[in-house]
This record gives sequence, structure tokens and C-alpha cells, in this order.
Amino acid sequence: MFQDRRIHLKKPNEIALMRAAGLVVGRTLEVLRAAVKPGVTTADLDALAEEHIRASGATPSFKGYHGYPASICTSVNDEVVHAIPSPDRTLREGDLVSIDCGAIVDGWHGDAAITVAVGEVTPDLQELTRTCEEAMWRGIAAMRRDGRLSDVSAAVETYVRGRGDYGIVEDYVGHGIGTQMHQPPNVPNVGRPGKGPRLVPGLAIAIEPMITLGSNQTDVLDDDWTVVTRDGAYAAHVEHTVALTDKGPWVLTALDGGAAKLAELGVPAGSLAESK
Ligand code: MF3
Ligand code: CO
Repeated sequence: MFQDRRIHLKKPNEIALMRAAGLVVGRTLEVLRAAVKPGVTTADLDALAEEHIRASGATPSFKGYHGYPASICTSVNDEVVHAIPSPDRTLREGDLVSIDCGAIVDGWHGDAAITVAVGEVTPDLQELTRTCEEAMWRGIAAMRRDGRLSDVSAAVETYVRGRGDYGIVEDYVGHGIGTQMHQPPNVPNVGRPGKGPRLVPGLAIAIEPMITLGSNQTDVLDDDWTVVTRDGAYAAHVEHTVALTDKGPWVLTALDGGAAKLAELGVPAGSLAESK
């Protein structure tokens, strides 16, 4: 899949640039979260995203990526990931929309996604979303120095399995990130712990669980982008870009760097050392 399978470890000054990109993505997603309501189209969200990214002095990384035509992905209900925004897709009360966003600052990437309820949604969709978010945070908290990459995968899987009979999508995975959106290594959402590359400071990855209320089987629609569940079950997808620092995981696309959530999980949050 990757031409060069080596993992590019990032230096502190490079992580600082990735933080700038991550903040643009994180802030853009908060603007979008606030804009989601019945009657809004997914194209409206895309326009808002592009405007906000460019006004921040950044470039939308998705636009033109292998020909992708928009600045975000807006995957509604049984759409899992990579759905293209459209003026014909009006969000309705009870829908669940996953918004995926990427931005580049000075050549460095940030990539994150949120799943948002449109108005009131059923309790099972609220629980699906909460489980997906919590699983992502368990994966982030598993980024302990000198652990192994599959500790992240195992933490995600174990949390989801413990919450109920969800499908965990395996056809798409998280990834390394840096001067490109997708770099080695792959970061699956299932696996046994203790395998794969060592978790060392400078590792930067996007952790992105995709889970469903049904099976984990997916199909790609005729537009060659939209990934849907084969059984029509609703899906959630959330993502953060995270760098492992000397102090711990720094969630580059979270406005607080992950401090609040990681404290809750009893894990020291990362940041850059004061001097270097
Ligand atoms: N953010 C997605 C990922 O995590 C990529 C979006 S694909 C694009 O892999 F074509 F829309 F850019
Ligand atoms: Co990603």
C-alpha cells in the first residue's frame, strides 16, 4: 500500500507545525458541529468548511486528493466514510452525520472526524456515537511509550466489544500522518496487543474507529467514493490526529490537546517540552 514503509518520526518543531494544522481542523469541525441542523445540506457544510479552513490560512487536504471533489466527507446514516457533500442531501431530524475534515499548514497535515446527531436521534444512535468516541479515546490512551502499535487497535476493539454487538469496520483503518495525509503505519481498529512497531516519541497517527449497528461489511457506491454498510445499518466514525511526545499522547486535533479526556482516563497528556 505504501511505497516507503518506513515510519517517519516527527521532531518537536514538526509536531508544532502539525499542531497548527490540527487546530485548524479541530476548530473547523466545531464550526460544522454547530451548523448541523435539519434543513442544512451537506454541500452547505462543505462550503462552510472550505471557507473556515482558507480563512485560517490553511488548505483543505481532501480537495483534489485522488480526484476527491470537496473539502470534507459527510457520511449520513448507513454511509460509513468518504461520502461526497451534495446540495441534494438535506439533513433531516433523526439523521446521524459523520464529518471528516483535513487541512494542511506549511506542508503538515491534520485529519479528524466527528459524528453529529441531527436534532433528536434515537437512543441507539446516541449510544453508537458515544461508543465510537469512547473507543477512539481508549485507543489514544493506549499510546504509551514503548508499547506497540497494536495496543491502540486492541484498546479500540476491546472497548467496542464490551459495549455491545457492534460491527467494527475493518475495510478501512487509521494511518500515520505528517507531510502527507496517509503515511505508514496502518492503524486497524481490531487486533491483539503487543504487536507491530514500537510506540516512541515522534510517532504521529490518525486513530479513526468506524462502527455500525449491524455487520461490519461495506460496499463502495457507483460514485467510487461513498462507503456504505452492506446491510444498511447506521454507522459512526470519529477521528483524531495524535502525536506521541515525551510526556504522553498529544491530541493535535483536539482544542485542549486531549487534556480533559486523558485526565479522565488517568493518562498524562502530551505536549512539547519547554525547551529543546
Ligand atoms: N480523512 C480520511 C482518512 O482518514 C480521508 C478522506 S479521503 C478524501 O483517511 F479523499 F476525502 F480525502
Ligand atoms: Co484519516
